[in-house]
Amino acid sequence: MDIITTPSYEALSKEAASYVSRKVQENPHIVLGLATGSTPTGMYEQLIKNHITLGTSYRNVTTFNLDEYVGMSKKNHNSYYAFMEKHLFQHIDIQNEFTFIPDGMSDPQKECGLYEEKLRKHGPIDLQILGLGANGHIGFNEPGTPFCSRTHVVELTDSTRKANSRFFKGIEDVPTHAITMGIDSIVNAKEILLLVSGAIKKEAFEKLLYGDISEDFPASILKKHPCVKILADQSALDTSS
Ligand code: F6R
Repeated sequence: MDIITTPSYEALSKEAASYVSRKVQENPHIVLGLATGSTPTGMYEQLIKNHITLGTSYRNVTTFNLDEYVGMSKKNHNSYYAFMEKHLFQHIDIQNEFTFIPDGMSDPQKECGLYEEKLRKHGPIDLQILGLGANGHIGFNEPGTPFCSRTHVVELTDSTRKANSRFFKGIEDVPTHAITMGIDSIVNAKEILLLVSGAIKKEAFEKLLYGDISEDFPASILKKHPCVKILADQSALDTSS
């Protein structure tokens, strides 16, 4: 794993965006794997700026998002569909039919199979962006998820629902289930860019760097991947914070 540290979240976001936009320029037909959550929003902001000022085009880019809440309609502002529209898609020239996100309103099991089919048809993913869960999850693959898992339905842990309740009125409004790309679907990407920001991720980051490879800590699988780049900001590393 190639680890780069940055002094701030802003620097991390700029570094990540310059890396991704360079990849898009090098390969205009790139397939990107995308994440939601707080960590990549700064990077998306920078990608939009880059698109506007330098004209990086997404016209031929395909994207796959990691996950979506079960029972969440695209119109709901908490859906990952709405998140991606708001933070990236509506600001760039990407074609709607090339942006894939699991459909939270379809039959969940069927949707998992369909999503895998789409990944087979349009993939493999060239560059997968990931955030790190405080408990080591990637996508919504919680501790204990088999490394061989493909896109599946998960019951969210209390800690993940609590962490995500900041976007909802309260924890009771956070859905209990989600559809997520599995760990094997994620590591099938040719390259992975993991973004780690904030003191809240310090423990998980330490575990990733120094702990064993174990299904109890899903992100640890990344140590086996041949091409992983980690961008971490100082607050995720500080021993004092
Ligand atoms: C989001 C996702 C999650 C997040 C993780 C970190 O699509 O799959 O694994 O990347 O929960 O979330 P933030 O960035 O909000 O700390």
